[in-house]
Amino acid sequence: MKGKFIVLEGIDGCGKTTQINELYKWLPKSGLINKNRTLIKTREPGGSFLGKEIRDMILNNNKLNSPSILTELLLYSADRAEHISKVILPALQNGHWIISDRFSGSTLAYQGYGREISIDIIKKLENIVCQNIKPDLTIFLEISPEESILRRKNKVADRIESEGLDFLKKVNHGFKLIALENNWEIIKASEDLTSIADQIQKLLINKFSLNK
Ligand code: TMP
Repeated sequence: MKGKFIVLEGIDGCGKTTQINELYKWLPKSGLINKNRTLIKTREPGGSFLGKEIRDMILNNNKLNSPSILTELLLYSADRAEHISKVILPALQNGHWIISDRFSGSTLAYQGYGREISIDIIKKLENIVCQNIKPDLTIFLEISPEESILRRKNKVADRIESEGLDFLKKVNHGFKLIALENNWEIIKASEDLTSIADQIQKLLINKFSLNK
């Protein structure tokens, strides 16, 4: 498998989406990707055709009909299974590069540490769903839960974003542990956008320029 799989993770409002857009502009010009290969920008949930419908089902802010936490876990897992089979695996097998806004670390952080579903169950499910696909690089954009709420105060929150500060604290704590356990790259994301984009570019150059 010659393609590369890069993931950005972090709590809501950490700036992942902005940084992925920056990366999507910069990577094709960086010289890191072979000429006959392409770059795919994707996300979870919602990176596949079916996944878009699953995303609507999970994030729809209708409290009365919200899924149970087990259903929520299985929906995120179904989204990932479809994303891997239809988008990620075929692209990597053909040598293409992928940048994804979230991957399995988010399930461990949100459903494991946030919802407090057994980490063991989540890891077992991850083994089934991920079919040995592991990101080549995961970057954790770290901001505080308080900053996350402040940054999103004028935006309409989806069902997960509406959970509030205590939930976000648990998720953030989880992300920090997962990042250390899995040697993710950690970037303090309260700095300005350009400096964060620079740091991300340097990480990619260091990691990928020798083994194209
Ligand atoms: P997004 O807003 O970054 O696209 O993510 C959608 C929401 O889904 C976000 O609040 C985090 C949450 N989420 C989980 O709870 N578990 C997961 O496995 C994933 C991928 C996202």
